[in-house]
Amino acid sequence: MHNTNWGILGCGHIAHKFAEDILATEGATLYAVGSRSLEKAKDFKQQHQAHKAYASYEELVKDPAVDIIYIATPHTYHKEVTFLCLEHSKAVLCEKPFAMNRKEVEAMIAFAKAEKTFLMEALWTYFIPHYQFVLQTVHSGELGAIQSVKADFGIDVPKDPTHRLYNKKLGGGGLLDVGIYPLFAAMTLLGTPEAIAAKATLDTNGIDLNCDMELTYPNQVKAHLFSAIDTQTDTTCHIELEKGTIRINSRFHDPTNVTITKNGITETIDFPVTVHGYHYEIVHCQEMLAKGRTESNIMTFEKSMELITLLDNVREKIGLRYE
Ligand SMILES: NC(=O)c1ccc[n+]([C@@H]2O[C@H](COP(=O)([O-])OP(=O)(O)OC[C@H]3O[C@@H](n4cnc5c(N)ncnc54)[C@H](OP(=O)(O)O)[C@@H]3O)[C@@H](O)[C@H]2O)c1
Repeated sequence: MHNTNWGILGCGHIAHKFAEDILATEGATLYAVGSRSLEKAKDFKQQHQAHKAYASYEELVKDPAVDIIYIATPHTYHKEVTFLCLEHSKAVLCEKPFAMNRKEVEAMIAFAKAEKTFLMEALWTYFIPHYQFVLQTVHSGELGAIQSVKADFGIDVPKDPTHRLYNKKLGGGGLLDVGIYPLFAAMTLLGTPEAIAAKATLDTNGIDLNCDMELTYPNQVKAHLFSAIDTQTDTTCHIELEKGTIRINSRFHDPTNVTITKNGITETIDFPVTVHGYHYEIVHCQEMLAKGRTESNIMTFEKSMELITLLDNVREKIGLRYE
């Protein structure tokens, strides 16, 4: 089997989990890591059996043996470091949100196209088997049309100004971090809304602590969505259809199980996994690279544009502005 050499850019919280899934994926090698600190890169390398540790992102992108780079920095850096990788002809898997706004995402996509180099937003949920199963079940039409969707993602993070989520300069706030998942669910289940209403509680720095969203689709079908960083919620997704219901159990964006009720019978379907769940997008990227593709056929550029447009629209409604 062809081997793919992965690089990880930014050695924070999520990078550690992603590294564990690289190690669990056939045909994947955690080849190099880049950090702003050599010590941190060396620790990360040792912990996850990487081959190389670099003291800067620039050194990482210059290593000719790296095939693809996973970007795991705060959102405010996604555009800048994506450009850095693409300039050095490195394929890129960039964490969600792809960037801070539509303009940045457009620029990233245009640059990837110009460089003819693979680029994808790391919307990992899209690739996880339970979520693919739900999409196939809904879109097959066997349960009729969707009548409503309700999805939430709330975490209760202690207020700490040094934490990324409370730092506006690092793109803090709940919408871009966790609110993106309920919006992604509505987008993949229902498509483009006709109208969006939203209200939020902002903190004194102007970041959103929680956000309530109502998306309206043709025939008055609604998606009620909620996100928070000051409230723990179930983090489930309920889909009411004409002939039944589907509940993606907690936490709906992680590998989980799905409860379906149809013809008066309720059944829970398990999707056992031995990984965190990043494995599936890792495999997908490797397949895309092996085929010489420069764009995913699942998390397409169009989907990333749709998602950032939804985020921009909600931000406008709730007055959430970044520099
Ligand atoms: N898919 C998922 O499940 C998931 C989960 C959580 C987060 N995320 C996304 O992943 C990204 C990173 O989140 P995280 O929770 O891993 O963040 P984190 O723990 O704060 O790590 C971010 C890393 O980015 C690097 N960085 C570069 N410039 C920085 C700066 N000015 N301040 C702080 N860090 C800086 C640092 O790595 P070095 O010091 O090594 O350079 C840092 O460790 C975010 O965009 C987030 O939305 C995705």
